[in-house]
Amino acid sequence: MSITISGMTKRFDRTEVLQGIDLDVADGELVALLGPSGSGKTTLLKIIAGLEWPDSGRLQVAGQDWLQLAARDRRIGFVFQHYALFPHMSVRDNIAFGLEVMPRGQRPSRAQIAAKVDELMAFLQIDQLADRYPAQLSGGQRQRVALGRALAIQPRVLLLDEPFGALDAAIRRDLRRWLRGVHEATGSTTIFVTHDQEEAFELADRVVVMGAGRIEQIGHADDIHDHPASPFVARFMGATVELPVTLAAGRATGPGLDLSALPRRALPDGPARIFARPADIRAVPDPAACWTVSSLGSTGAELHLTATKPDGTEVEVQMPRRGAPALSRGAPVALRIEAAAVFPDSRRDHAAPVLPLRKEIAR
Ligand SMILES: Nc1ncnc2c1ncn2[C@@H]1O[C@H](COP(=O)(O)OP(=O)(O)OP(=O)(O)O)[C@@H](O)[C@H]1O
Ligand SMILES: [Mg+2]
Repeated sequence: MSITISGMTKRFDRTEVLQGIDLDVADGELVALLGPSGSGKTTLLKIIAGLEWPDSGRLQVAGQDWLQLAARDRRIGFVFQHYALFPHMSVRDNIAFGLEVMPRGQRPSRAQIAAKVDELMAFLQIDQLADRYPAQLSGGQRQRVALGRALAIQPRVLLLDEPFGALDAAIRRDLRRWLRGVHEATGSTTIFVTHDQEEAFELADRVVVMGAGRIEQIGHADDIHDHPASPFVARFMGATVELPVTLAAGRATGPGLDLSALPRRALPDGPARIFARPADIRAVPDPAACWTVSSLGSTGAELHLTATKPDGTEVEVQMPRRGAPALSRGAPVALRIEAAAVFPDSRRDHAAPVLPLRKEIAR
């Protein structure tokens, strides 16, 4: 089922939580919604599920107007954020629940429900857990049961709101691969919400970056990583070093900065800002430079240093230790920036702070 959302707005009290969302999801596509806390991800999913209504805009699924349709007529599989299984029901009964509560005319027979649940448990690799209760399961097993419950009704659309939120990094990675397999096998149109960019990029066909009720960018992982569409996306993608520069004939220059590695941009002359990741910056000893090394540490593989200018500006640098020049505290350095996004100063810029990303350790 394809999903088309257009001009969608939603306000709670005085806060405009969705500020005009336009989004097309193709039939069978897996799209990740990525954005900081409070950006409206859950609200958008709830509207698609029929648990919340927008103030304006349209929602069409396979050409049908879904805003006219009650939640239970939409056949949505939903795994909620902070999802809880029914504690007093076995795994088997939890998965069967959605089928058991169907209106009598649509409800499969007892035997059909049992067969369907067996088939799902085998497919989700949880058949050995059938008679256990939620309290007897690991977090990862619970998430599989939750997904089984969502899939039991053969949903036309699958909505997953941070389904792996509470799990540790290694289990999340396993479940991610497993979920991708499940998605490919069922072919359901899926929208997956996450805070975690690695998770979004690894799982999804396309990633939608949301910030404060707006879609900031839609694209493939490499695109969003290399060509953020706005300062907001650049910061959210980890380009935390932000420096003023001057553009002339498409080239950026700035005091103590070597920006010769950056490609020429089709941008107007004048003041601009560059956004770079600490790992894309190199400190190069230069007695004439205006930056000094103010702190220096090593993780073994990488040097982490802070370079400071007399006006107090600080820049974090992470460079491979092997092959790095000899550096010491107080040494004057120039900063060579290998990759960065550049935006003219006039451009729309969200001043709202971006919450730190949940970084996963040890890939
Ligand atoms: N029922 C409600 N009443 C009032 N405000 C609400 C309600 N639901 C959500 N909000 C507000 O709407 C905004 C968006 O909330 P939403 O839950 O969609 O964010 P989110 O992107 O899912 O965040 P998180 O990543 O923390 O889950 C927040 O500011 C939230 O406080
Ligand atoms: Mg949420």
